[in-house]
Amino acid sequence: MTHTPVAHKPNLPVGKTLLPVGKILKGDCISEMQNLPDGAIDLVFADPPYNLQLKNTLHRPDQSEVKGVADDWDKFSSFAAYDSFSRAWLSEVRRVLAPDGALWVIGSYHNIFRLGAILQDLGFWILNDVIWRKANPMPNFRGRRLTNAHETLIWAARSQKSRYVFNYGSLKALNDDLQMRSDWHLPICGGKERLRDATGEKVHPTQKPEALLYRVLLASSRPEQIVLDPFLGSGTTAVVAKRLGRHWIGIERDATYRAAAAKRIAATRAIGADEIALATPQEKREEKRIPFGLLLEHGLLRVGDVLTDPTGRYQARVRADGTLIARGQSGDVKGSIHQVGAAVSGATACNGWSFWCLPPKTTTSEAQTRTKATHAKATHAKAKSASVKKSTRQPVVLDNLRRQLRARLESQEPPATRVQAKQ
Ligand SMILES: C[S@@+](CC[C@H](N)C(=O)[O-])C[C@H]1O[C@@H](n2cnc3c(N)ncnc32)[C@H](O)[C@@H]1O
Repeated sequence: MTHTPVAHKPNLPVGKTLLPVGKILKGDCISEMQNLPDGAIDLVFADPPYNLQLKNTLHRPDQSEVKGVADDWDKFSSFAAYDSFSRAWLSEVRRVLAPDGALWVIGSYHNIFRLGAILQDLGFWILNDVIWRKANPMPNFRGRRLTNAHETLIWAARSQKSRYVFNYGSLKALNDDLQMRSDWHLPICGGKERLRDATGEKVHPTQKPEALLYRVLLASSRPEQIVLDPFLGSGTTAVVAKRLGRHWIGIERDATYRAAAAKRIAATRAIGADEIALATPQEKREEKRIPFGLLLEHGLLRVGDVLTDPTGRYQARVRADGTLIARGQSGDVKGSIHQVGAAVSGATACNGWSFWCLPPKTTTSEAQTRTKATHAKATHAKAKSASVKKSTRQPVVLDNLRRQLRARLESQEPPATRVQAKQ
C-alpha cells in the first residue's frame, strides 16, 4: 500500500499570523511564546525543569555514579526564582491557548505542588492529576526514603468555562473497555526508544516514554489540532504528535537537544492522510443525534412498517410522527420506540434502538396494504400476518439503520476547516 504522509502545514495561518507548525523554535520558551498569537494553540504538553536541587553526587551500591539531572537548565537559586519563572511561562501558555484549550504539565514532588498553586492562581481549571506509576523506578540507594516510583501530571483546562477535548471513549477502548483511571502504570523510557550517543550515554537525562505522550495526546487532542511543547528536549511530544496526525510546535533552548530531536522527528513515520480517520476519536457524545423520526423523513422506514423485537415475539407499527403503536396487555400502547418497547416487554425501561428490528423486506403489496390501514386494531392484525412470513434474511436492528443514516448525513456535511473553527 502506498503511504502518503500528512503534509505538514508549515506556517499554518491563524487569523493574520503564520504559525511555525512542525518546527523546533530555538531559544527561551517565554520569549518564543511571546511571538505566537493569542489563542492559537489547542493543547500544551510541558515537561519543565523540576528544580531537583541535587547537591551531592549519588552512587549505586557498586559505586557507579547515578546520572541524575545535574544540568544548569534545572537549577534555580531559590523557590521564589523557580516560582517566578513558572508563573512567567504558564502565563504565556494561557495566552496562546485557545479558549477551549488545555495544558498538561508533568513534575515530581519537588515542583508539582508549586505548579499546581500557580495554575490555579492564573485561572487554569484543574481537571485531573494523573499519577504516572513507573514500572521500573530507580531504587532509593541510600535507603533513607521510600522509592520514588511516580511522577505527577496535572491536566488543566484554560479556564473553568473551557469546552476542553476529552476523548473518553478512545481511552476506554485503549484500556480494554474499562474507564481509564488516573493512575497510569508505564515503564520509564528505555531500550531502543532511549536516545544514546556514540559512547552509549543518554542524549537527554529526562526523555519521557512515548507511551505516556500517546495517552495524553489521544485523550485530549484531535487530529490536525496544534500541540505546543515549550520544553521539547529530545522531541518526544513532536514524535507522538506526528504518529497521531496532530500538528506540533516545539521550543528548546539547548542546541544538542534540538539536533537530537530534529533527527528523531525526521525518522518518525507520519500518519498517512488516508489514515487520519483511524486516528479520529469516535466519541459517542459528539455523534450527531438522530431522532427516530428522521428515519422516516429520510425514507429508511415507512409509515406502517412493522417492527419486531429480535425474537419476533413483540410487534409494533410505525406511525407518521415517529411514534409506535402496539397491542399491550390492556389495549393499544402508543409512544416512543423506548416507551412502547418497555410497555410490550413489561420492562421498566428499554432502549428502543436495540430492541426493535425491521424484519426482512416485505413485498410492495403488503406494504401498500399496511400503509392504507388506519385503525390501530386492524393494523395489528395485518402486521402479524406480514411478519409471520418466513424469510432467510436477517432482521435489521434500528440502531444499524440509525448508523446508516448518520453516515449518510455526515458525508453530506461540508468539513469544518480549522480557520472556521477559530472564528
Ligand atoms: C525536562 S526536559 C524535557 C524532556 C522532554 N519531555 C523529552 O521527552 O525529551 C526540559 C527541557 O527544557 C529545556 N529548557 C529548560 N529551560 C528552558 C527554557 N527557559 N526555554 C526553553 N527550553 C528550556 C531543557 O534544555 C530541557 O531539554
